[in-house]
Amino acid sequence: MFDGTACLLQDRPGSRNRMTDLTILGLETSCDETAAAVVRRTADGRVEVLSSIIASQIAQHAPYGGVVPEIAARAHVESIDAIAAEAMRTAGVDYGDLSGVAATAGPGLVGGVMVGLAFGKAVALARGLPLVAVNHLEGHAVSARLGADVPYPFLLLLVSGGHCQLLDVGGVGACVRLGSTIDDAAGEAFDKIAKSLGLPYPGGPALERLAVGGDPDRYPLPRALLGRKDCAFSFSGLKTAAARIAEGLTAEADRRDLAASVQAAIGRQLRERSERAMEIYAQAHPGEARRFVVAGGVAANKALRATLEEAAARRGFSFDAPPLAYCTDNAAMIALAGAERLALGISDPLDAAARPRWPLDAAAAAADPTHLAGRKGAKA
Ligand code: KG4
Ligand code: ZN
Repeated sequence: MFDGTACLLQDRPGSRNRMTDLTILGLETSCDETAAAVVRRTADGRVEVLSSIIASQIAQHAPYGGVVPEIAARAHVESIDAIAAEAMRTAGVDYGDLSGVAATAGPGLVGGVMVGLAFGKAVALARGLPLVAVNHLEGHAVSARLGADVPYPFLLLLVSGGHCQLLDVGGVGACVRLGSTIDDAAGEAFDKIAKSLGLPYPGGPALERLAVGGDPDRYPLPRALLGRKDCAFSFSGLKTAAARIAEGLTAEADRRDLAASVQAAIGRQLRERSERAMEIYAQAHPGEARRFVVAGGVAANKALRATLEEAAARRGFSFDAPPLAYCTDNAAMIALAGAERLALGISDPLDAAARPRWPLDAAAAAADPTHLAGRKGAKA
């Protein structure tokens, strides 16, 4: 059981038959939200979120303009007990009703990841439950399924504070990366440009609010990687140009126009690369359903959702995005990712390690290390 490899559910003490309904406690502590949730997944794949509790640390990090790892880890330690208890109470379930525990094991700030993972291991050990050490990105990848029935396979645009990538998602643990950022993540660009506009952390939602009513064509901003045939992203040129313009602006109307121009420029790039990925995906999956999913914190942006939905329609793809509450970090997506693994008989040993770096497509990441996770971002 402690051999360091994933183990099959039926081999574990306290295991449940894989064809039954699963009730999973999910734990998320990889960045600045301490979150716990209880999710039920029926044997036929229906999903019900029984509770989803999120304690945000925004107020603690705001004075520093970004996430401070030590403050985050300490805050997770202080609140994980109460947040998990609240998730169980709200769901109306007892630890004896659980089929398993799923905890984020990376990628993320390792001090925080260790807190949630250790808590999950303790529950698993005390209650004889299987543990699933979940990749946070796999949580985002399944998050649209918390709101709608989105069958595999699908094309995924994962846009968060630490990651910006296009993935061909074939099923549980079967992701092929089609492209990712060569510098910053989209959320990171939002956060940094927002900062240069004097907006509070986290910048994405603040910039979206400022952009309302602004002129998206007012400020011409650089278009990255024009002419490239791959699905790579780059936001650093845009970030530098926008910061330079922001320096000279004081009038509210000008700031609004810059926010709208930035949002449109980020949307344009996400759209262009997603459309290219749709072409590649359609060729790789002839005759199969064409589904496009966008997930991650940036997917909460309504203007971007609209742009991407339009792009999907133009290319004959269906469009899904998680309900707004499940775009940014939450534990319901971690519980669901855990449930999907348990349903296939996959769980992890109790000595599963916390992993600060953990690409979804390890082969692609190793083959092309110039494509970063955007790991310098506030949320990385
Ligand atoms: O998925 P997430 O909560 O955390 C990570 O796993 O990184 O994503 C957080 C990122 C932040 O960069 C935040 O500014 C961005 O998502 N974000 C948004 C919006 N809401 C959150 N960006 C643009 N518009 C939004 N409404
Ligand atoms: Zn995330």
